[in-house]
Amino acid sequence: MDGIKGAIAVVTGAAQGNGEAIAKGLAQNGAKVALADVQIDIAETVAAAIRKAGSEAVALPVDVAFLPSATELAAAVLEAFGPAEILINNAGIIRRTPIASETFDTDFETVMGVNATGVANMTRAFLDQLKETKGRIVNLGSIMSVTAGPGMTAYAASKGAVAQMTKALAHDLAPDGVRVNAIAPGVIETPMTEATRANPDAIGRFMAHTPMGRPGRAEELVGPALFLASHASSYVTGALLPVDGGYLAA
Ligand SMILES: NC(=O)c1ccc[n+]([C@@H]2O[C@H](COP(=O)([O-])OP(=O)(O)OC[C@H]3O[C@@H](n4cnc5c(N)ncnc54)[C@H](O)[C@@H]3O)[C@@H](O)[C@H]2O)c1
Repeated sequence: MDGIKGAIAVVTGAAQGNGEAIAKGLAQNGAKVALADVQIDIAETVAAAIRKAGSEAVALPVDVAFLPSATELAAAVLEAFGPAEILINNAGIIRRTPIASETFDTDFETVMGVNATGVANMTRAFLDQLKETKGRIVNLGSIMSVTAGPGMTAYAASKGAVAQMTKALAHDLAPDGVRVNAIAPGVIETPMTEATRANPDAIGRFMAHTPMGRPGRAEELVGPALFLASHASSYVTGALLPVDGGYLAA
């Protein structure tokens, strides 16, 4: 695939779920993939599986919430492979904390730190490399970038920030030849949504607004991610692409 084969790609949160699927999809299409995660042992297991399948992959530690950690990752990627051309800002967390809860402050700060500041930190850390390669950034937004639900104050705020940063960065980086887009998944079958999918009320609320009537699989994000990371989307920047079984159309 043009823009994927031979490209150096960094995927955060690649140890499991959506990040694992996207990292594997990039590798299967010929990218050299750096799998970055706080869960380094699990990321290494995934990287080993990718190498066993005949592609190039390394696992590298990062906590995206901290700029020095993102900067260290950028240096490690440069040393391992060379300058990154594709950055998938996928690492994310959820806390379903009501506003009246005693832990709201801490949870809000933690969620914003990973989901929103994390995207800014990674973008800053990889800016020089992406400018050099005229690269592509793909951020993981959510249907919660534009809608909301009970207990979603922190998560929806953080994903709204991802959508807005995607648009603002598209402006700032277009002159450097760097495109910035985001994916807005609906409910995807990953560890993050285990509790939601096990709760008939919660999953029922989502499915009532999902024309396709089922959750998505992490592998179903691969095509959209490859599209936005490749030259197939050469005139697309600042976009939020729903991958949600029609949720946002309902
Ligand atoms: N699963 C869904 O339904 C869904 C829907 C919309 C958006 N998303 C988004 O997709 C992304 C991936 O979600 P998922 O469902 O695969 O989640 P997940 O919890 O299954 O996996 C998240 C991964 O991110 C890593 N991570 C967490 N904090 C990190 C940090 N500070 N630094 C580096 N890595 C960190 C975790 O170790 C884990 O490997 C997230 O941004 C999430 O918000 C998920």
